[in-house]
Amino acid sequence: MKHVLITGADRGVGFALAEVFSKNGYIVYAGQFMPDWPELENLKERFPETLHIIPLDVGNDVSVKEAVKLVSAKTDCLDILINCAGIFYQEDNRERFLHTVQVNTFGSLRTIEAFYPLMQKGQKRICNFSSEAGVIALSTRPDTFTYTSSKAALNMASQMLFQKLRPEGFTFRLYHPGWVRSYMSGVKATEGHFEPEETALVAFKQFTGDIPCEDVLMIQDVYNRFWPF
Ligand SMILES: NC(=O)c1ccc[n+]([C@@H]2O[C@H](COP(=O)([O-])OP(=O)(O)OC[C@H]3O[C@@H](n4cnc5c(N)ncnc54)[C@H](OP(=O)(O)O)[C@@H]3O)[C@@H](O)[C@H]2O)c1
Repeated sequence: MKHVLITGADRGVGFALAEVFSKNGYIVYAGQFMPDWPELENLKERFPETLHIIPLDVGNDVSVKEAVKLVSAKTDCLDILINCAGIFYQEDNRERFLHTVQVNTFGSLRTIEAFYPLMQKGQKRICNFSSEAGVIALSTRPDTFTYTSSKAALNMASQMLFQKLRPEGFTFRLYHPGWVRSYMSGVKATEGHFEPEETALVAFKQFTGDIPCEDVLMIQDVYNRFWPF
């Protein structure tokens, strides 16, 4: 059985991914940021042997290190790491800019850095949630400095990691889930193109399956298109 860690798994796309990976026989380490949100505990009741809830704030070094200890106590081999946790502020200011980068950009990087040793024996696949918002040539959101910049920085950091780790056998997925009716505004969105379950199903196939070329990093999206960034 393969082992996958998913950050931001309380709700939205991360939760839907935890469900689809569980249904497909994976051992799932579901990063929990919202202990009072009940969905993960309910999922745990359905998959008591294979779903492990791991407290995880990707914006916090101590929390990430503690999560590594908890996962390491259960396995010596993590196959797939999925950086799904993300935040979006409707209105920008400097403090929010820093917080967004701390979570959306550094959150993925510190999680990869911390779990890198545990990934040595596994499938070595790193999956980062990107966004069309972080594609510089496509970006037309003059009022959204923070989110767009955090995802553009994540794209570049992913490219640097790709160049560093691809020779070690790591493969990468950068995924744009489309416009999802998730919880990015704090409540379940009524507008959007996809339910979290729909885009998670596509993501599952892309994260677990092969792509035409593993030696070039591009963003894949919910429509199975590939974009340069
Ligand atoms: N929704 C879209 O249309 C869309 C489009 C393009 C890309 N994306 C990306 O897709 C990913 C999943 O987003 P989503 O749509 O599923 O949003 P979501 O419903 O808000 O889910 C994200 C989850 O991450 C959690 N989180 C926030 N800060 C965290 C931290 N420091 N550590 C760990 N978890 C944290 C959130 O908790 P709180 O709710 O308490 O913040 C939430 O439970 C994100 O990376 C997002 O940027 C989304």
